[in-house]
Amino acid sequence: MAEQQYDDLGADYARHTGTNVVNVHYDRPAILALAGEVSGRRVLDVGCAAGHLAARLVERGASVTGIDVSAEMVRLADERCGGERARFHRADLARPLDFLADDSFDLVTASLVLHYLEDWGPALRELRRVLRPGGALVMSIHHPGEDWHWFGRPDYFRTEQVTDEWVIAGQPRRVRFYRRPLGQAFAALRQAGFEVDQLVEPAPATACAELDPEWFELLSTQPRFLYFRAVNPAA
Ligand SMILES: C[S@@+](CC[C@H](N)C(=O)[O-])C[C@H]1O[C@@H](n2cnc3c(N)ncnc32)[C@H](O)[C@@H]1O
Repeated sequence: MAEQQYDDLGADYARHTGTNVVNVHYDRPAILALAGEVSGRRVLDVGCAAGHLAARLVERGASVTGIDVSAEMVRLADERCGGERARFHRADLARPLDFLADDSFDLVTASLVLHYLEDWGPALRELRRVLRPGGALVMSIHHPGEDWHWFGRPDYFRTEQVTDEWVIAGQPRRVRFYRRPLGQAFAALRQAGFEVDQLVEPAPATACAELDPEWFELLSTQPRFLYFRAVNPAA
């Protein structure tokens, strides 16, 4: 599902996500703040899309392995920042990541990707397997309250597929993903063996106030995305 969606969105999505306020001044700063110091760290960036987050991580001194289910996104990421410190692979997070060794990363970043999976269990167990003990998963999803409100669904507590319409390069594009209640997201992380140590509803970056006051006001007053930092406990 997501593979086809993002293959089709292609370079239009790459341009969009490289400039739009929500990704540039809200999601990525929040992920980077939770990631903390990454210099010299081995980072797995899942759902890397066109490599914008990976590029920020490399700038900060990390070595990044990026994976994405969309071959087109992997190509665009590689074009953006592929090299010795950023390698990209096509891989589906819903399947075993056999090509990645146990305990081989200090940090996993998963920005706006897990909501494409109905069942988080197998993916989270794989992410924990490849994280060294003490390493952290830093992730963002659509805020459960915002999705429930936006789609006007009758039952907040259901996990269900929803279809949104995004305007990208002036064209309406349909995108499907799953919404779920907050309690289920938290429980999935715990069941996979993670310890959640931070849950964040961030403010937009201050630069956004001048660049786009309307979005700044919106992101400062309404929930949009939700952030978790979840640690793979040392044995
Ligand atoms: C909203 S974009 C993520 C944005 C990106 N993290 C960034 O910082 O620019 C979602 C990405 O997740 C990828 N994706 C969706 N389902 C996936 C899966 N099962 N396995 C791997 N990648 C997936 C999509 O192809 C898409 O590139």
